[in-house]
Amino acid sequence: METEKRTQISAQQIDNRDLSEQIKEVTKDSHVRAENTELMLSFQRGQVTLPQYKLLLCSLYEIYQALEEELDRNSSHPAVAPIYFPTELARLKSIENDLEYFYGPDWREKIVVPAATLRYCHRLRQIGKENPEFLVAHAYTRYLGDLSGGQVLGRIAQKSMGLKSSEGLSFFAFPGVSSPNLFKQLYRSRMNSVELTAEERNGVLEEAVRAFEFNIQVFDGLQKMLSVTGNEHQESWKNSEAVHSKTLP
Ligand code: HEM
Repeated sequence: METEKRTQISAQQIDNRDLSEQIKEVTKDSHVRAENTELMLSFQRGQVTLPQYKLLLCSLYEIYQALEEELDRNSSHPAVAPIYFPTELARLKSIENDLEYFYGPDWREKIVVPAATLRYCHRLRQIGKENPEFLVAHAYTRYLGDLSGGQVLGRIAQKSMGLKSSEGLSFFAFPGVSSPNLFKQLYRSRMNSVELTAEERNGVLEEAVRAFEFNIQVFDGLQKMLSVTGNEHQESWKNSEAVHSKTLP
């Protein structure tokens, strides 16, 4: 009886825990897997190449376009409004600048992404329409990641590719965030203020695991494309699952 009571209390305590703690916990293993993808290992070892980085930027462009369009469209939704920080966090313009730097003015015609990127974007647009509260999970996964490990990765990438200052690396820079750590605290408290039913909260937690999974699949897809191309020749991508995003619906 006593044991049963204690179990009930701990189950309740778990339910009462902050969303920011729960989301970190449920995605812990996925984070380790994401860190250990070939692409992320190349970054960490200081071995990221220009072809790898350029290709990653193409996918980030598609992903942030979908994410930020859906966040903008749902900005007054009660689950989105508290975590809506376009001035501080929006990445799309920075990515566009970086793409122009690397690919030139006609960069839009050169965007190529693996099928996994399109699946990720499709999911973002679907939940933007059907379950806007799940956008919390996707915004968390990308933006808090960019403000955490992403900061170190930016500096490593600059060195690995021998780039001067921050040329082509504005994706990693958050001029509107003076202290990433303080901002992450604010972001977590805003996440914790979102009112969710138990069912919605579980949905958000599941979606966060899914968001990491999408990222892992994108990274794996990019590595496959690079191995098919021998890092250089875009033409041979037609034999892989790579797609010109412009040709898709
Ligand atoms: C947090 C490293 C890749 C998403 C962090 C933190 C570090 C880190 C050091 C801070 C942990 C803390 O404050 O307790 C790295 C490294 C990576 C990597 C070295 C790869 C080379 C990724 C990827 C994603 C991601 C690919 C997702 C797409 C996150 C998130 C957080 C985080 C959401 C915030 C966790 C929280 O405080 O709730 N990462 N990371 N990371 N990372 Fe990563």
